[in-house]
Amino acid sequence: IRVGVIFGGRSGEHDVSLRSAQAILRAIDRERFEVVPIGITREGRWLSGGDPLRQLAATSRLALAPGDDPPAEESDLGSALAVPETGHAVEVAGAGVVQQLDVVFPVLHGPYGEDGTVQGLLELADVPYVGAGVLGSAVSMDKVVAKQLFEREGLPVAPWLWVTRRQWERDPEGVAARVERELGYPCFVKPANLGSSVGVSKVHHPGELPGAMEEAARYDRKLVVERGIDARELEVSVLGNDEPITSVVGEIRPVNEFYDYQAKYVDEGSELLVPAPITQEQSDTVREMAVRAFKVVDAAGMARVDFFLERNTGTIYINEINTIPGFTQISMYPILWEASGLSFRELVSRLIELALE
Ligand code: DAL
Ligand code: MG
Repeated sequence: IRVGVIFGGRSGEHDVSLRSAQAILRAIDRERFEVVPIGITREGRWLSGGDPLRQLAATSRLALAPGDDPPAEESDLGSALAVPETGHAVEVAGAGVVQQLDVVFPVLHGPYGEDGTVQGLLELADVPYVGAGVLGSAVSMDKVVAKQLFEREGLPVAPWLWVTRRQWERDPEGVAARVERELGYPCFVKPANLGSSVGVSKVHHPGELPGAMEEAARYDRKLVVERGIDARELEVSVLGNDEPITSVVGEIRPVNEFYDYQAKYVDEGSELLVPAPITQEQSDTVREMAVRAFKVVDAAGMARVDFFLERNTGTIYINEINTIPGFTQISMYPILWEASGLSFRELVSRLIELALE
């Protein structure tokens, strides 16, 4: 079975994607699968042949994990696409390259990959792929639409609001008054469509609101503001299609004031507690909510669902769903499965099987 692994991409999470892809390329069972690595540059050009991961990593701000990677495979894809034998990855046509594959594992985080765009290309090309389809990907990526669906489903969502970039620019006082009235401080400002906390700020008082809105507006025309509740962060992994299963629940204790990009990928010291020290009842609630969230957004294959457990009240709120969760060796998604009895390698095989179901 010939598996294309696509990584990089035009998103603000390009560098994170390279790390996830490296871990998946290392873990994938080479006795069962022939692997074709495919890189997408920050500009959106597709690279195949040679070692596109190393080529993209050369300009990444995040280093790849040390250690040997399996050699890029000798596939007959090069000749099929008239790619010269330079040993260097070369630019290829996206639709042309995917049509040579039996299945694709998109390891792209954020816009242009986790949001339904690549899924749409794969649908057009009639190639099965790992993870959510076009609709599930798109609605999960957009925090506004995802929260609206969660609320419809009756899942508790912490108080939030959203405005367009234009609304903010036209009437910053009006927006600030709404934030004060509906949410209070501290609050978090986020671009609606991104992940890994890119463009996210914690706002402690009204004076910090304009800077935070402008930062988020660099990435998106839709801006989300969430009440900053005092909470523990819980995460659960979901696996399956129509009858998904859940992993044990994990907890994150961030090293920084919140689990920002720096804490996620640069500083070491954020703690992952697996399983989370919570009651059986809390664990059951979180797992049941994760399955409902997975279904309401129409996810498939995999997702990691993130929650808040409010310290004072014990209320559990859903925060978000990630349809292509971080997938490095030290990421919550695979770690929660390992703790639930499924190794990284078995997990990757299972995801490919689910794509072919
Ligand atoms: N968006 C990052 C990769 C995550 O959710 O893990
Ligand atoms: Mg996320």
